[in-house]
Parts: sequence; C-alpha cells; structure tokens
Amino acid sequence: MAIIIDGNELSRRQREITAKEALEFTEKAGRPPGLAVVLVGEDPASAIYVKNKKKACETAGIRSFEYRLDSGTSREELLGLVHRLNADDLVDGILVKLPLPAHLDSQEVLLAIDPGKDVDGFHPYNMGRLLTGEPTLVPCTPAGIMCMLREHGVSLRGKDAVVVGRSNIVGKPMAILLMMEHATVTICHSRTVGLEAKVAAADVVVAAIGRAEMIRGDWIKPGAVVIDVGMNRTASGLKGDVQFEEAARRASLITPVPGGVGPMTITMLLDNTLRAARIHAG
Ligand code: GUN
Repeated sequence: MAIIIDGNELSRRQREITAKEALEFTEKAGRPPGLAVVLVGEDPASAIYVKNKKKACETAGIRSFEYRLDSGTSREELLGLVHRLNADDLVDGILVKLPLPAHLDSQEVLLAIDPGKDVDGFHPYNMGRLLTGEPTLVPCTPAGIMCMLREHGVSLRGKDAVVVGRSNIVGKPMAILLMMEHATVTICHSRTVGLEAKVAAADVVVAAIGRAEMIRGDWIKPGAVVIDVGMNRTASGLKGDVQFEEAARRASLITPVPGGVGPMTITMLLDNTLRAARIHAG
C-alpha cells in the first residue's frame, strides 16, 4: 500500500517559511510583497480559484490586488491594465487567470506581462530560461510537484518518468524539471499509441490530462511514484486523472485528489511572488 502524500500538510509547512520570509521582506522594503490577480469573465471555477489565492496571500503576509473585469473586456483594456500593473511598484507578481474568453489572445496577454513579474512562469522568457537550464520563475504546478518529490526523498537520477499531458502550464515544464534531475522522460498525450505500456514501464508517473480516472490503477508498476494533477468534476465527485484505489495498492507513493498537488500549486505561487519581490527590490 502506497504512502499518501499530504499536500495540505506539506503546504502548511512551506507556507510558514514563506510567511516568515515575507515578513522579513516587508521589514526591509517597507512594504509587503504584492500579487495582482486578474480575472476576466464570470466562470465560477475561476472565481473560486481567485478567492482561494487571495486568502492564501493574506495568510502569508502578501498583499493581493484583485481585478475582476467583465467578460466583454476588450484586448486594449486588458493590455492597458497589464501595462499599468507592470509599472506599479507595489505589484511584484501578476497573474492573469486562464483560460481567457475566446475573443482574447492569451499568448499576447502573457507576452505583455513583465517577465520579472510573471509569477505563473508562462512568459516565453521564463519558459526559455527553464528550457536552457537557468530557471527563474517556474510554473507553479510542476514546481510544487518537484517540492513534493524532494520532501519525500524521491531520487530521480536514471529513473524512467512518464508525463501524461503536454500543456504549457504543466506537461512541458514538468518534463524539463524531471530531466534536470536526471530522469529519462517520456511525454505522452491524447494521440499517444500504447499509453498503457508506457505508463506500466514508468518509475514515476505524472498525470495531467484532465480526464477522470483515465490512468487505470492496474497499469501502475509496483513501487512506482504516482502524481495526479487532475481535477475533474464528475457525478460521483471530484476525481483525479488516476484511478486512485487500485493505483494506491501498487504504488510506493501517491498523491490524492483533492489534497495533493492542488494546495502545492498555490504554495508555489506565494513562493514565486516573494521571489519576484526580491528581484524587483534588487
Ligand atoms: N488556470 C488554472 N491554473 C492556472 C494557473 O496556474 N495560472 C493561471 N494564470 N491560470 C490558471
């Protein structure tokens, strides 16, 4: 039976450290680190996401600035706000909630964010730094997963890791981070042929496909480490991308949904905001 990674407990410990360091920053800089969160439209899931981030900021001693724009906001209005936030000395981090409404080009908006304030790590500059082995602001979900693996003493050197999902937010940066720790990485996705065999050969599986329980428990190699990024609302409740019960019988270490990767993502956002504040304050 696997050890279940407690993302809530790990987050609590990590956020205590961040809160202490945020306080030190505030004393030195004469102001707290600041995070601006921009939400366009009324998607309820996004609204919850933004609310949770705001609460987490307050607890960590990070000032949050919230911008709720209506779904008809124009490209010019949104870019104008991003430029104002880039120039605002009280703002160290800028997060524009994705996905944006269809009439807005998210790549254009991400490109407009000052890379030094890009706490999501989605700007091509930060992506490029990661790809060339000099990460600065790293996307929060993969960073949180690396933190979990480190805390549980998982050695990645020479291990076979399979990442299922190729998004810019999780799959691609995850693969790079695992490779930097000397894992041999395979990226699988919706068109992969023979997914089961690839997962079955993996020492580490990161599932980020967004389809409830698509990775069957009996695919998992005995003793493997299983990280589940999925958050799928189904008729029987919130489900991950991995069929948990059966996978937990085979894995050595596994993350639950909820209470696994999710809280660590927010924790890394706070961490990135503090990092950006330090860069910003020189
Ligand atoms: N939507 C879901 N996850 C994220 C995230 O990490 N950052 C942003 N900006 N939007 C998201």
